[in-house]
Amino acid sequence: MALHPTARRLRSLVVRVGILTGGGDCPGLNAVIRAAVRKGERAYGDELIGFLDAWDGVKERRTTPLSVESMRGTLPRGGTVLGTRRGSPFDTPDGIEQVKSTLGDLALDGLIVIGGNGTLSVASLLFSEHGLPVIGVPKTIDNDIVGTDVTFGFNTAVQIATDAIDRLHTTAESHDRVLVVEVMGRHTGWIATHAGIAGGATAVLIPEIPFDLDELCQRLTSRHHRGRYASIVVVAEGAVPKEGTLDVPELEIDQFGHVRLGGIAARVAHIIGEQTGFETRVVQLGHIQRGGTPTAFDRVLATRFGVGAIDAVHEQLWGKMTVLRGEHVVYEDLTVAVGKTRTVDMQLVNGVAEHFFA
Ligand code: F6P
Repeated sequence: MALHPTARRLRSLVVRVGILTGGGDCPGLNAVIRAAVRKGERAYGDELIGFLDAWDGVKERRTTPLSVESMRGTLPRGGTVLGTRRGSPFDTPDGIEQVKSTLGDLALDGLIVIGGNGTLSVASLLFSEHGLPVIGVPKTIDNDIVGTDVTFGFNTAVQIATDAIDRLHTTAESHDRVLVVEVMGRHTGWIATHAGIAGGATAVLIPEIPFDLDELCQRLTSRHHRGRYASIVVVAEGAVPKEGTLDVPELEIDQFGHVRLGGIAARVAHIIGEQTGFETRVVQLGHIQRGGTPTAFDRVLATRFGVGAIDAVHEQLWGKMTVLRGEHVVYEDLTVAVGKTRTVDMQLVNGVAEHFFA
C-alpha cells in the first residue's frame, strides 16, 4: 500500500490521538481502546485522549485522559469506558465546526473512530469532505459492515444466543412446545443464522429471505407427527414475511431515523400456535446479546484492530479502517463501508437450506 509522502516521518514521532466509540455498544470496544493505548503509549510514547459519549464529547470537549494504567482491567469488560451515543455532528448546523475546533484546540494529530455503519459514514465524510485525520475501526454485533470478513462483538452475540437456545431446548422438550427466539440483526440475519445452526434450531427466519409461515407451519406439523414434539424457531428481529402473507404492525422510528425493531417473533409465534395447535412461547433476547464480557475471539480481534488503528495513525492512513481479511488485519478505505450492508453469505444458507422457509 502506497504511503503518504510524509508518513515515514510521523512513524517515529510522538502524537496526540483522540478516540471515540459511537453507535450501539458492542463487546470488545474496551479491548480496542486498551490495545491502541498500550501500543501508542509503550511503542510510540503517544498521548491518548478519550472523548466521552461519542460525537457529543467531541463537540462539547468532554474528554478523559487514557493510559495503560487507566485501561487496566478493561479487557474482559463489556460496554465502553468512554460511553456511546447514536447521532452525528452533521445533525446540528454547527456540529462540524465544533468538531474541527476541538481537534485543533486540543492539538490532536489524529482521531480513531470506533463504530458501526452510521459512525463510519460520518468518519468517512469528515475525512473526504473536511480533510480531518480520521482512522476507522468497524464494530457491531450485527456483522453487517462491508469490507471486513467479520466484526468483533458478533462472535459474543452468537455465543450468547446459542447458549440461550441450548437452554430453551430442554424446557421446550419437557413441555412439548414450540419456542420462538428473537435475536438481533437489524438488516441482516448473521446472528440468527449462526446461532440457529450452532443451536440446532428447526427453523431460522432472516431478513435476506422473506419467510413463508404456511410452509414453516407445515414443516413443524410434519416434524411433530414424526415424533419430535418440540421445536426451536430462531427469528432475526428484521425478518420479513413474504409479501401479502402476514400483517405486520407499523414500526416506530427512533430520533436518528432508525426503525425500532423487535416483536416479529411474537407475531410469528401467535400464527404458529393458531395454525398448528402446538403450545408456543416467545423469547426476545434483546440487549442481553450486547452486554457482558466479550469472547476470547472478540478480545483478540478487537485487540488486533486497536493495534492496527494506532499503527495507521503513525502511517497517516487517513480515511482508512482496520479490517480482517482472511487471517490478516489490513486497511480498507472507509468509503467501502458507506451506505452498504453486508448480508448473510448465501453459500452458508444453502449449506443448511432446510432451516430456511422462502
Ligand atoms: O446495530 C446493533 C443493534 O444491536 C441492532 O442489532 C439492534 O437493532 C439495535 O442495535 C438496537 O439499538 P438500540 O440499542 O438503540 O435499541
